[in-house]
Amino acid sequence: MPPNKILIFFAQYIERELGIVYEEHNYFQLQNRLEEIAKLLGLINSEACYEQAQNGINGAFKQLLLDVATNNETSFFRDYKVFKSLESQLLKPFADKNESSVLSIWSAASSTGQEALSLAILIEEWSEKNNFKINYSILGTDISERALSKARTYKYSQLEMQRGMPAPLLIKYFKKDEEDNWTACERITKNIQYKNLNLKSQFVNENLFQIILCRNMLIYQRLESKAQIINRLENSLTLEGLLVLGSGESLIGISNNYHQILIDGAILYKKKFNFNVAA
Ligand SMILES: C[S@@+](CC[C@H](N)C(=O)[O-])C[C@H]1O[C@@H](n2cnc3c(N)ncnc32)[C@H](O)[C@@H]1O
Repeated sequence: MPPNKILIFFAQYIERELGIVYEEHNYFQLQNRLEEIAKLLGLINSEACYEQAQNGINGAFKQLLLDVATNNETSFFRDYKVFKSLESQLLKPFADKNESSVLSIWSAASSTGQEALSLAILIEEWSEKNNFKINYSILGTDISERALSKARTYKYSQLEMQRGMPAPLLIKYFKKDEEDNWTACERITKNIQYKNLNLKSQFVNENLFQIILCRNMLIYQRLESKAQIINRLENSLTLEGLLVLGSGESLIGISNNYHQILIDGAILYKKKFNFNVAA
């Protein structure tokens, strides 16, 4: 069996399932990841994985493939200027309306949860400083069950905390254990919920969100797939809701349905009010 045939087979499967594109020059990475899976499944090598796949890719095999195909790189307050911009573009306008409603936030492709916790801390800090309690709920979704399982523990190593969490906030919102791991306190975890969701699927959310963060995920997708995902996210946003992408991502050539707002060095996308919405 020529090794390329195996790699092409799995690369195509991963793209079909997740939209993640493995270019040929990255096949060595896929090869390493298949060897990893083979070990975890008690198989000899990637060729044995291929043979098993001929009987269908289901259950643990499928989850392992999806897990190792994803890059779960993340950190606390990643691209800090985005968080800064949300104070004036999301929290203040929400508080100005002085409603008792709940601010709904979706961290799409939430990975191991640092983004969701950073958002919860941002809101708690803003509420305290401005003496205005904002009720909020944060939904974190990801396709990687491995990433979600970690997110649900709310527990991070010292090294993970050092990646973006300012010391005063660390001490205020996390508790250290004997193994030097830090667990987030209930004040910030109680409003967060995690779910497994493939953004490539025809998902429908029951609730609308005032803001969706979908950062550093589209970068691995083809243009057509990016457009489909952005389209579906748009249906989950409130009128004039905000969309946030990663710093290397944009809506150029993907959607004209947003106004771009440049604020504090960050780019936010505000959904255009659509007068043609059916009555
Ligand atoms: C590089 S991380 C970004 C995490 C976080 N948004 C950030 O910017 O720090 C990309 C995440 O996208 C997730 N992902 C990739 N393809 C996905 C898909 N089709 N549906 C849902 N999540 C996906 C991966 O599992 C991974 O956790």
